Amino acid sequence: MCGIIGVTGEGPVVPRLLDSLKRLEYRGYDSAGVAAVVDGRIERRRAKGKIRALEEVLADEPLKATVGIGHTRWATHGAPNVPNAHPHQAGRVTLVHNGIIENFAELKAELAAQGHVFESQTDTEVVAHLLDQTLSKGAAPLDAFKATLDRLTGAYALAVLIEGEDGLILGARRGSPLVVGWGEGEMYLGSDALAVGPFTQKISYLEEGDYVAVDRSGARMFDAGGASVDRPVVQVSASSAMVEKGEYRHFMEKEIHEQPDSVQHTLSEYLDLVTGKAKTGAIDFAAIDRIQIIACGTAFYAGQIGRYTFERIAGLPCDVEIASEFRYRSPALSKSTLAVAVSQSGETADTLASLTWCKREGLKTAAVVNVHSSSMAREADILCPTHAGPEIGVASTKAFTAQVAALLALAVAAGVQRGRVDADKEAELVKALFESPRLIAECAEHHADIEAVAHDLAKARDVLFLGRGAMFPLAMEGALKLKEISYIHAEGYAAGELKHGPIALIDEETPTVALAPLDDVFEKTCSNLQEVSARGGPVIMIAPETAPAPHGADIRRIHPPDCHPLIAPLVYAVPVQLLAYYTAVHKGTDVDQPRNLAKSVTVE
Ligand code: F6R
Repeated sequence: MCGIIGVTGEGPVVPRLLDSLKRLEYRGYDSAGVAAVVDGRIERRRAKGKIRALEEVLADEPLKATVGIGHTRWATHGAPNVPNAHPHQAGRVTLVHNGIIENFAELKAELAAQGHVFESQTDTEVVAHLLDQTLSKGAAPLDAFKATLDRLTGAYALAVLIEGEDGLILGARRGSPLVVGWGEGEMYLGSDALAVGPFTQKISYLEEGDYVAVDRSGARMFDAGGASVDRPVVQVSASSAMVEKGEYRHFMEKEIHEQPDSVQHTLSEYLDLVTGKAKTGAIDFAAIDRIQIIACGTAFYAGQIGRYTFERIAGLPCDVEIASEFRYRSPALSKSTLAVAVSQSGETADTLASLTWCKREGLKTAAVVNVHSSSMAREADILCPTHAGPEIGVASTKAFTAQVAALLALAVAAGVQRGRVDADKEAELVKALFESPRLIAECAEHHADIEAVAHDLAKARDVLFLGRGAMFPLAMEGALKLKEISYIHAEGYAAGELKHGPIALIDEETPTVALAPLDDVFEKTCSNLQEVSARGGPVIMIAPETAPAPHGADIRRIHPPDCHPLIAPLVYAVPVQLLAYYTAVHKGTDVDQPRNLAKSVTVE
């Protein structure tokens, strides 16, 4: 969740880059850097820490230039130091990056074997080397850039300078956002509208897979296939792009699409892709024998997904309870239990009261919270931050997946600390988790089939959601999302529970949405769907394309990509959210502010 700015114009560029970076500091502030074209050469200035430190470096060693790029970093791969700070450089290429290059290790090995020498531990530097190598074979900048992008796996936004191409900045987006800003005789690239906010309110939002060449006279944009495209120029308001909907109809839609970024940012708090290891965090999982998660609503479902993972991966017993029940139940807990409050706001009255109660009882406490200055963040012994950024839509989306990401990553750490996860397994799980931003982006982009299903779902009066394992709490979350914003009655059940009662609800008018990743219980979920289908119930099966279809009439499919079972709750959350979203849009309800709800529930 780093911040990116690029400016090509005629006035002094460095003050502009700094102005923008200060506004982007909320996205990360481990290090910052700028690069600018000075007399045909690209020079860099970088500093560890906040933008203030970079300003001091620039005061000592100023850069006089009219074209440049800047970056403020939230360290993901490699320690927060100057060599790892962006921009990164190789030969003629200097670039900044937000996201994850998942296949960086393979690319780095290939380039190192050809004699390339790396100066940082980042995944980003391989992109600079790859592009420089292609350019040195004589390719034109845009062709070389496209060829480089084609070799990258992962989620990224990039801004690139090439020596000898004065005035040109290349940009690309996949998974991480990038906008083009239109000025008078000056053009900009930015990681969001806020980045270019000080200079222009005229923005083009690049679409997934787009790449772009900007110079001071304008922008040439291309789609992932290399075809020339025009993305519309929209006017955003000057002040607060961060709390604007930008290119989206609703905050909820925007927040669904922000999830590759927010999940990556959150995972990076707890895991290191370069080493393939869980970071040694503040929680000593070897010193506890039980976890008690306390939360409300969506956060409660995130907690339940966490429970499956803590028990399966770390062999650590874990209970999850709704805070409003927990606080009045006088629960019997041993002192070796870690109490974990999960909350977006960090202010929910019942969760806060439960946390305080646990602390008074002498339990060690932790809080997985998105608002880091909140009451829970201050009350808990250990703060486990999520990095979803401000969530405006009342129905939680990106805060939920950030909570799930944090809990999955903590479960891996617990498994390692408790000797249940060896180094190979740890590397496999860490790699799988870092694949989730790309797969989430893929799901969010391919929504035509979801929209079509939602069109029919909007006519339903009741909907059932089914899942097994970690898909069971996600089924309940899916039902909650649908009822919250579309006002359609929905219930989430464990698929195996169906025949113990809920199957009586099945008829031609009651759709069942099944979450069925290809895991060890896939066949069992399919049998349950056959039972629904045999009774005339329409089925919407969310399962990968490679999964066999159960026999039966009226079974529609939504295909998320294949994924590691660990990250299925993150990947499958997206179709579930989009299903609710498009259903509500069809019904014309107030998606961002559904009736009777509030964002932060500070009363009992
Ligand atoms: C549903 C939703 C709520 C919250 C719940 C807890 O979309 O957002 O169910 O999850 O009110 O709120 P926090 O996480 O702030 O404690």
